[in-house]
Amino acid sequence: MTLTASVVGASGFAGGELLRLLISHPEFEVVQATSREYENRTVGHVHPNLRELDLRFSDPAELESVDALFAATPHGVSMEHVEEYLDAAGKLIDLSADFRLDSEAAYDQWYDGHSAPQFLSQATYALPELGREGLEDADIVASGGCNATATMLALKPLVDAGMLAPDDQVVADLKVGSSEGGAGGGAASSHPERSGVVRPYAPTGHRHEAEIEEHFGLSLSFTVHAVDMVRGAAATCHTFPTGPGAEGGVETADLWGAYREAYGDEPFVRLVAGGGGVYRYPEPKSVAGTNLAEVGFAADGDRVVAFAAIDNVMKGAAGQAVHGANLAFGLDETAGLNQTGLHPVGSP
Ligand SMILES: NC(=O)c1ccc[n+]([C@@H]2O[C@H](COP(=O)([O-])OP(=O)(O)OC[C@H]3O[C@@H](n4cnc5c(N)ncnc54)[C@H](OP(=O)(O)O)[C@@H]3O)[C@@H](O)[C@H]2O)c1
Repeated sequence: MTLTASVVGASGFAGGELLRLLISHPEFEVVQATSREYENRTVGHVHPNLRELDLRFSDPAELESVDALFAATPHGVSMEHVEEYLDAAGKLIDLSADFRLDSEAAYDQWYDGHSAPQFLSQATYALPELGREGLEDADIVASGGCNATATMLALKPLVDAGMLAPDDQVVADLKVGSSEGGAGGGAASSHPERSGVVRPYAPTGHRHEAEIEEHFGLSLSFTVHAVDMVRGAAATCHTFPTGPGAEGGVETADLWGAYREAYGDEPFVRLVAGGGGVYRYPEPKSVAGTNLAEVGFAADGDRVVAFAAIDNVMKGAAGQAVHGANLAFGLDETAGLNQTGLHPVGSP
C-alpha cells in the first residue's frame, strides 16, 4: 500500500525533518511540500541534506488531494485552515499546538483562544507512549509539544506507579536547543547570541504546562533554558513523591521496576540510569537524528529526579508525527523511524 502525503510548512525545521523521514518511509510517498517564501525552489535549496529529492516547494493555497497532510506550521495556521486541510486529506497530522488541548476553555486560558473549536473533538493527542487509544480513528492527529514530550516521558512511570500524588511538588527544568525556535527563530536563536548561553527564556507560565496538566493532573513548576546546542531537549524533573506507590520511601530498585513496567515494550524509549561510561544519564547528543527518547532516574531520600532527553525536531516533532501517522493508518508503528544516532558528534 502506498499512501500519498503532503507537508505544509516544508521549508521549516520540522517540515524538513518530516520530508527526510517520509522519503525513506516504506508506505508514504511525498507528493507536495509547501512554502510561500520558497515557492518553485527545489527542496534542496533550503534543506541541503535533501538535495537528491526531485521536488519543488509549492503554494499551500493549492493543496493536492492526499491520504495524509502533515502540517508543520506556526501556531494558529492549522486552526485557520483546518477545513481546507481535511477537504484535501484523509487525515491531518498537526505538529502545532492547535489541536493538542481538549477544550476551547483551555485555549482561552493558555493561548489566544481557538478559531475552530468545533474540530477539537475530532483530534486525538499523539504521544503514543501515553496511550494509543483513538489514534486509528482520528481525523486529526495532534502531535505533542517537544518540551511537554520530554517532561511527560520522564514522569509517566512515577504517575503510573502511583508514586506521584496530584498535589506533590514537581519542578521541571528544561534545557533546549536553538532549533526549537524554528527556522525564523530570530536573535534569540542566532548562534553568535546563542553561543555559550544558559539563558532562562520561559521561567514561568510556559504553554506546554497545559498539556502536562491535562494528561497527568499534576500542577508542576516548569522552567526552560536556551542552551548552546542546535538539536535537543533535556528535562530534569525534581519530584517529591507522596502517593500510595511511594509509601515507605522510593529506592532505586523501585524506580527500575516502575520505569521497566512503563517502557519495557516501547520501541522508542531506552532507559539510561547510572551504569558506566561517560553518558550515564539521558543525553540529547546520544539521540540526535533519531526518534528515541532516553529516560532515566535517581533516588535521593524524599526526592526522585526523573530525566528525559530527546531530539526536539525528531521525537519532539517530526518523528513523533510519523509515529502517530503510522498508528493512525494502521501501519507498523516503527516504519520509517529506525534511525541510529551518531557518535562522536559535535553540538547536535
Ligand atoms: N522546532 C521544533 O523543535 C518543534 C518541536 C515540536 C513542535 N514544533 C511545532 O511545529 C511547527 C513548525 O515548527 P518549526 O520549528 O518547523 O517552524 P519554522 O521552522 O518556522 O517553519 C514554519 C513553516 O511554516 C510555513 N508557514 C508559516 N506560516 C504559514 C502559513 N500561514 N501557511 C502555510 N505555511 C506557513 C513556513 O513557510 P512559508 O512561510 O514559506 O510558507 C515554514 O515552512 C510549529 O507549530 C512548532 O510549534 C516545532
